[in-house]
Amino acid sequence: CGIVGYVSRADQTRDHGALDVVLEGLRRLEYRGYDSAGVAVLSNGGVVSAKKAGKLSNLLAELEEHPLPAAQTGIGHTRWATHGGPTDVNAHPHLADEGKLALIHNGIIENFSELKTKLLEQGVSFLSSTDTEVAAALLGEEYRAASDLPQADRLTVAMQRACQQLEGAFTLLAVHAEQPDVVVAARRNSPLVVGLGEGENFLGSDVSGFIDYTRRAVELGQDQIVTITPETVVITDFFGAPAQGKEYEVNWDAAAAEKDGYPSFMEKEIHEQPRAVSETLLGRTDAAGKLILDELRIDPEQLKQVNKIIVLACGTSAYAGQVAKYAIEHWCRIPTEVELSHEFRYRDPIVDGNTLIISISQSGETMDTLMAVRYAREQGAKTLAICNTNGSTIPRESDAVLYTHAGPEIAVASTKAFLAQITAAYLLGLYLAQLRGNKFQGEIKDLLADLHKTPEKIQTVLDNEAQIRDLAVAMKDAKSVLFLGRHVGFPVAMEGALKLKELAYIHAEGFAAGELKHGPIALIEDGQPVFVVVPSPNGRDSLHAKVVSNIQEIRARGAKTIVIAEEGDEAVREFAEHVFYIPATPTLLAPLLTTVPLQIFACALASAKGYDVDQPRNLAKSVTVE
Ligand code: G6P
Repeated sequence: CGIVGYVSRADQTRDHGALDVVLEGLRRLEYRGYDSAGVAVLSNGGVVSAKKAGKLSNLLAELEEHPLPAAQTGIGHTRWATHGGPTDVNAHPHLADEGKLALIHNGIIENFSELKTKLLEQGVSFLSSTDTEVAAALLGEEYRAASDLPQADRLTVAMQRACQQLEGAFTLLAVHAEQPDVVVAARRNSPLVVGLGEGENFLGSDVSGFIDYTRRAVELGQDQIVTITPETVVITDFFGAPAQGKEYEVNWDAAAAEKDGYPSFMEKEIHEQPRAVSETLLGRTDAAGKLILDELRIDPEQLKQVNKIIVLACGTSAYAGQVAKYAIEHWCRIPTEVELSHEFRYRDPIVDGNTLIISISQSGETMDTLMAVRYAREQGAKTLAICNTNGSTIPRESDAVLYTHAGPEIAVASTKAFLAQITAAYLLGLYLAQLRGNKFQGEIKDLLADLHKTPEKIQTVLDNEAQIRDLAVAMKDAKSVLFLGRHVGFPVAMEGALKLKELAYIHAEGFAAGELKHGPIALIEDGQPVFVVVPSPNGRDSLHAKVVSNIQEIRARGAKTIVIAEEGDEAVREFAEHVFYIPATPTLLAPLLTTVPLQIFACALASAKGYDVDQPRNLAKSVTVE
């Protein structure tokens, strides 16, 4: 989601009011979400707000028809739906305290249903199905309870007390009619920056929210609350203790600001992957470490009856499906097929009431996948969508949905959505194993713990990206690149090849390493670059040794081998031109790490060639034709 806040001193010479600033900020932040948009301003002792489902242009049209009064203080939000579909009612701001308080939110409040139950008991009523309205109501209650405090402190203290009760990831911005020149914001695991002006101050999800007005910014730390007035910026922790932000000067232009300083959305999204994975994991385990996928909406009894799974997807999402197959079959012992959506429905597939169809789609709008899901439903199958876009067609037409929380993906070639899809597939696999009481219940806990450690490991891979980028630049004139992998490394190899085709227009193929000797090895000649995704030496069976032999076979025939291996794996060094090490992780979870260097490679190589990595030729982000 995109968030903007603004306060200013009344000043005749200023050419912008609160609404101008907020709407301009939302326009720049719209790339962060476009499910709905809303604003609230403080005027004549009250809160006035407007909100609309759909793109910002819908809100602008609404404001054209019903203009808001001029104001000095305002907040605005552009939404990427997580809890509650993309409707007018679910749009932000949400009001509380009899309409005197307005709140906007980015993130996911994990304990919202628990809090909602408590608030309902206290007589609070709710209009929407969002977690945000619960936060608004809680803040409203805390504001009332703080009536003994000096007026100037009430909203800030109420925010502190509310945040102490909230779990999850959130940025919150609130205004109250009784404090007309104040915006209070809170931040935990979700972005928020302050912009410093003269007689005016700003808040934004990132600096592009206020870049048209100031370049002086303050970065907030974790678990901090900031109160802005026209003249002051005061930062505390959630318990009211004074805290410091870090001031810096923004030296990007407005376009770079939207990309957070990265040269492309793709690079930004590659670097957002630790968050995409951690947000997808967020709120899906209970205190005892048990998986709770309560948004699934299929009767657990029916899920227990499932005797066959078919994963349907296209493009990168289909490779996430391949990874899902390895994991689900191993953990759940349910036969699982993966099929390209467009092949599925034209070949008379065998599907019945005990078949579970898992569709995987970032956009939720891919026509091939939608048609395949419809077809499967007609045949009586249960359908479950893994999707990144709340309220899109595929989840709407499915029996159940498991949303990935990667946030909007702008670059056409998928990166962070891919890792989030794999993460969601793991969650689903472990959930089914848990439900069916499979033998390794103990292992599930360990795997979940390992899964929670992956965001940090992905960050380690990103921190070491220079090595792979240099290699990409050096290889920019390559005519063909091959990718080999085995087990879950096989779909990773195919995804690595796809990325290179999509972005750099280079001929690239991914192979199962074991298949090499059955044909592809004929392609190997002197100097042929080959990436090899090597499984962990501590993994299962003799996979590692087999792949190391494959490397030797191609090396002997002149291949230039570039190896992705687990840290500490010295055995590969001898046969590799280049080795890129990734942190150790259980074999089945490795794609979350091994994919990342391949994404960086393709992106850096295409950039070195001067290509537009965000919008590669001939491709579309979501293909809504068959
Ligand atoms: C298009 C995009 C790919 C994407 C595929 C599936 O072809 O260019 O990047 O993987 O569609 O999209 P979906 O939204 O269904 O995941």
